[in-house]
Amino acid sequence: MKALEADLIIQNCAELLTVRNGTGRPKTGKALGDIGLIKNGAVAVSRGEIIWVGESTDLGRHVRAGRKTKIIDADGKIVMPGFVDPHTHLIFAGSREREWLERLAGRDYLRVLKSGGGILSTVNWTRKATRTELVRAGLKRLNRMLENGTTTVESKSGYGLTIKDEIKILDSMRALMLIQPVEIVPTFLGAHAVPPEFGDSRSYARFVADRMVPEVARRGLADYCDVFCEDGAFSASDAAIVLESAMKNGLQTKMHVNEFNDLGGTKVAAALHPKSLDHLDVISARTMSDVRRSGSVAVLLPGVAFFLGREAYPQANKFISNGVPVALGTDFNPGTCFCYSMQFIISLSCIKMGLSAEQAINCATINAAHAIGRADRLGSIEVGKQADFIIMEISTYRQIPYSVAANNVSLVVKNGAVALDRTRLF
Ligand code: NIG
Ligand code: FE
Repeated sequence: MKALEADLIIQNCAELLTVRNGTGRPKTGKALGDIGLIKNGAVAVSRGEIIWVGESTDLGRHVRAGRKTKIIDADGKIVMPGFVDPHTHLIFAGSREREWLERLAGRDYLRVLKSGGGILSTVNWTRKATRTELVRAGLKRLNRMLENGTTTVESKSGYGLTIKDEIKILDSMRALMLIQPVEIVPTFLGAHAVPPEFGDSRSYARFVADRMVPEVARRGLADYCDVFCEDGAFSASDAAIVLESAMKNGLQTKMHVNEFNDLGGTKVAAALHPKSLDHLDVISARTMSDVRRSGSVAVLLPGVAFFLGREAYPQANKFISNGVPVALGTDFNPGTCFCYSMQFIISLSCIKMGLSAEQAINCATINAAHAIGRADRLGSIEVGKQADFIIMEISTYRQIPYSVAANNVSLVVKNGAVALDRTRLF
């Protein structure tokens, strides 16, 4: 057999976590316990694509190194796919640490929103910001995420709430895609809050459905359309109006649902089958059956419960035992989770939601890629997939959840190229 020529080889990995699947579907049940671990693993890349995966001892028989091949020795370290963060609110101006501290001292989140604070205060800042300012702020945040091992991020608009300002936000994402390595999957969240110019949620939901969605779709600015189905934001029937328009206009769908209250939004999901249902903190037997029928990935966001100081976390194991595919995300945003790190979310999911290390790793990589429709190309280390890896300065994957709030990432490879090198720190 003729050896393949690689332009990048990572070899001698103490543990190579491939998280391979092979079914083409998100992992559920027992498969979630399998991270496709190869001891003393190696991976070879050509032109950004993975061309070989196996044990380092077999590498020489299958892969050839040329004069220009970059060879990285990962002796004593682990190598795994870059994290996929399937739920963030990346682009906004201003900051809300004061309000957050007040809430920790006892103010209620939804009451803050009703009195014009919360999301709407970020909307005020964001409307005043220029596209360039938003790009600058977004770039800083993406750099922090990359540093923490995130190579792909879903990013929602939703702090503009006018056609002009939502387009400005989505445009800033498009600009960011061109100037930094983290891949961005853009989501239009025009139905994030009811802006003060509209008296009620229904009339704004209609405006989003009739005017904003077609314009965003026409400009090709978003892959997904999301809606915040919640008390003080949008009812289940408002959500249906927005999502039906999205589907008609060729956008895929997602829902923020049951974060604080159960408004029956999951019933809409069971009928419309969004790609993902996000949050799902508040669930009953009926909502669980809706979620199952939706066929959606449940994107659980334990950073929110942590950030808001809540006792109750999303019930990950209930979803898993009901056969629902689960993914993990940060929900990075200024109000309910200012956290860049998927490593920390993995720790939280083990400590507070009872996931095993293996389950958490699958949920933060391959299942997260499914939640944003990128699993054909991203989220695992398999031949034919894009070469997005991280090297971590730990000797076993069990130390990912164990080293709480640490950043173990020393090298990030995105699309076959070194995107970030932190090795001098270790
Ligand atoms: O996912 N739920 C709505 N949106 C965000 C919060 C946004 C904000 O407070 O600015 C969330 O929790
Ligand atoms: Fe969110």
